[in-house]
Amino acid sequence: VNMSEDASTSPPPGTNKRLPQSIIIGVRKGGTRALLEMLDIHPEVAAAATEVHFFDWDENYGKGFEWYRDLMPYSYPDQITIEKTPGYFTSALAPERISAMNSSIKLLLILRDPTERVISDYTQVYFNRLENHKPVQAIENLLVRNGVLNMRYKAIQRSLYDVHMRNWLRHFPLDQIHIVDGDALIRDPLPELQKVEDFLNLPPRIVSSNFYFNQTKGFYCIRSDGRERCLHESKGRPHPMVNNSVLQQLRAFLREHNRTFFRLVRRTFNWQ
Ligand code: A3P
Repeated sequence: VNMSEDASTSPPPGTNKRLPQSIIIGVRKGGTRALLEMLDIHPEVAAAATEVHFFDWDENYGKGFEWYRDLMPYSYPDQITIEKTPGYFTSALAPERISAMNSSIKLLLILRDPTERVISDYTQVYFNRLENHKPVQAIENLLVRNGVLNMRYKAIQRSLYDVHMRNWLRHFPLDQIHIVDGDALIRDPLPELQKVEDFLNLPPRIVSSNFYFNQTKGFYCIRSDGRERCLHESKGRPHPMVNNSVLQQLRAFLREHNRTFFRLVRRTFNWQ
């Protein structure tokens, strides 16, 4: 339940701002907003309204834990405070810093097919650049340079899940990182949310009537507290068609990384 809207007025009696007991660490474009909004249906969840970027931006981290705590929503003692910042997953320093704050924190990582994620990442940047009147490029020109995959393209780097996961596993045991299947969350949100309730030791409160499929949006939307709402229009955008041989090149390259990732997390996913 989101109570951060009350920040300007006086906080509800009996509430406090608390450091998060759980963090959605990413991945960017994995469905992090959907996951946070859907978890927020739960009465024992207090979700931070905005992305905080505390552990991945040095200038924020330098402001200290009190600055961070002040950005958290007011919560009751029985609630779990959760924030989401997708940049944490790919940040070199975030794992160590989060562990220094709370080494027993519960981490949520939502992943989707890494090839699909690259295209989604491109699409987000594409629209941001259009809005800011900056030039845009075709995705193929970013993905491939002189016939070879452009490894410096950030969208590809962020999809190397094994590389980033290794860094997290240096600081956290695997059982402290629950992976949400972002592709499954799109198809049918409830089972994925029930697994998260279980992981967070929350009583099961999220039910099927909390979701309804919106044909126009083409995604599930949320029904909670007598209100119906879909995610922002920037979530669930159509993706561009990608040249097939470029797409195959990307898939082939990511396949090896995916296999390594499956070994690391002792679980497989239906990625192409
Ligand atoms: P696309 O816009 O590429 O489809 P994030 O919030 O981490 O940026 O992730 C955005 C992605 O969340 C969207 O990527 C979309 O596929 C996915 N998503 C999952 N469930 C959704 C939902 N119910 N409504 C809208 N988007 C959803």
